[in-house]
Amino acid sequence: MLRATVWFTGLSGAGKTTVAATLKSMLDELSVPALLLDGDDLRAGLSADLSFSEEDRVENIRRVGEVALLFSTAGHLSLVTVISPFAAGRAEVRARHDAAGVTFLEVHVATPLAVCEQRDPKGLYARARRGEVPSFTGVSSPYEAPDAPDLAVQTTDRTPEESASDVLALLESRGLVAARSHGLWHLL
Ligand code: ADX
Repeated sequence: MLRATVWFTGLSGAGKTTVAATLKSMLDELSVPALLLDGDDLRAGLSADLSFSEEDRVENIRRVGEVALLFSTAGHLSLVTVISPFAAGRAEVRARHDAAGVTFLEVHVATPLAVCEQRDPKGLYARARRGEVPSFTGVSSPYEAPDAPDLAVQTTDRTPEESASDVLALLESRGLVAARSHGLWHLL
């Protein structure tokens, strides 16, 4: 049975949600059961009581990791998109997956800060630079990039489709989805 979580980490505006949503569409085509767990959605509900202090981010990541693990254990592919700025928090989620025998794949959406800030889709970097958003990741709060992610995707020289295809290839290489044979099967 498919038992895996794909964990997208990266700065705000890096393209985590865009790449994961594109991958989700590809997985839908392949009839692979997958679901998106996105930081903005989770913070609107499950983690609505949490701030962006280090302590609360650690708790946010713990909760999201546990939810992903529940779905992945049940046979859905969890696609998680949260900044998750602290390496220790990500390692803890991986350890929880390892203990449960569920695959954990860390994908670093490695868009440089300058590019994220240039994009600024929510206007948050501009507000953070004006001092209006406390503890904003990359500006006034740290982001610890993964040392050894399972995959790093660049969104500056790759389209979302190319990046999502790279993640799909990773899933194939780990035997988690049989994308090509599924595709052929669909053609037949
Ligand atoms: S995490 O650090 O706890 O992993 P999470 O991914 O849930 O963060 O939420 C990040 C989103 O919250 C950002 O995309 C942005 O829209 C919003 N946000 C609001 N305040 C902050 C802040 N201080 N730092 C980072 N993101 C923030």
